Amino acid sequence: MDSLAGKVAVVFGGSSNIGLAIAQRFAREGASVTVVARNEDNLQHAVESIGHDSKYALVDIAVDEEVAKFFEPLERIDLLVNCAGSFLFGAVDEVPVSEWEDLFGPRFFGQMRTCHYAVPKMPAGSVIMLCSGVAAKSAIVNYAGGAGLCGAVNSMGKQLALELAPREIRVNVLSPGLIMDPEAQKTLHLDLPENELRRELIERIPMGRPGFPEDIAEAAMFFATCDYATGMVLDVDGGWTTT
Ligand SMILES: NC(=O)c1ccc[n+]([C@@H]2O[C@H](COP(=O)([O-])OP(=O)(O)OC[C@H]3O[C@@H](n4cnc5c(N)ncnc54)[C@H](OP(=O)(O)O)[C@@H]3O)[C@@H](O)[C@H]2O)c1
Repeated sequence: MDSLAGKVAVVFGGSSNIGLAIAQRFAREGASVTVVARNEDNLQHAVESIGHDSKYALVDIAVDEEVAKFFEPLERIDLLVNCAGSFLFGAVDEVPVSEWEDLFGPRFFGQMRTCHYAVPKMPAGSVIMLCSGVAAKSAIVNYAGGAGLCGAVNSMGKQLALELAPREIRVNVLSPGLIMDPEAQKTLHLDLPENELRRELIERIPMGRPGFPEDIAEAAMFFATCDYATGMVLDVDGGWTTT
C-alpha cells in the first residue's frame, strides 16, 4: 500500500464524497495529502477520517486570490485533483443564466485556475485530474448548463494533456455517473416525490444502481499510477454513457 509514497497530493473538494474517497485512497497509498474546500468543520472531519498526517486548507476555488495564496508556499505538487463544485438543475427558460455562470465559476474556471497556479510547481511525472460528468455525453433534461460545462472540462483536459506532455505532466478527466456514498444509498427512498429526479437517473443506468465514491477513487489511482495514460476521459458510470 505504498504506490504513492513520497507523492504530494492536493485534492480540491476533498472534504466530501468523491474528493474525500480519493484523498483517503491516496493517503492509504502513501501520498502526503492536503484537502481543500470552504467549510472548516467538514474539512476537520475529513482529515480525521483520512488520517496519515493529512492537512486541510480553506480556499474558495472560484476566487483567484485565494487559490494563488494557497499555492504560493507549496514547493511541489505531484498529484492535483479537482473535485470541487456543485450542480443545479432547471429549465433553460426558468434558471437565470447567472446561476449557470455561478456553476461554471468553480467547476470550469476553478479547475483551470488550479492548473494555472499548480503547473509551474509540478515536476515531470506529475498528474492532473479534472472532474466532469456523464452529462457531457448523455443528455439530461434540465441540465443544459451543467452538460455544457462537463463537455468544456473534457475538452480542456485533452488540450492540457497535449500542451503539458512535453513537460511530462499527464492530464486526465474523471467523468462520474451518479455517485453516492453507502450511507446515502442506504437511506435513499426512491418512492418519495423529492427523489423523483434520482429515480429517473437511476433508471438510465444499465447496472441499475448508483456508484460509490470508492469507484472514482479506483479510477483516480489508475490515473495516478499509469505512466502512459494522458488525454483520457474515463466514464465511471455503471454503463450510463453506453445508452
Ligand atoms: N456525485 C455525483 O453523482 C457526480 C456526478 C457527476 C459529476 N459530479 C461532480 O463531481 C464533483 C464532486 O462531486 P461530489 O458528489 O463529491 O460533490 P460533493 O459531495 O457536493 O462535494 C463537493 C466538494 O467540493 C467543495 N466545494 C464546492 N464548491 C467549492 C468552491 N467554490 N471552492 C472550494 N471547494 C468547493 C465542497 O466543500 P465546501 O462546500 O465546503 O466548499 C466539497 O468538498 C462535483 O463537481 C460534482 O458536481 C458529481
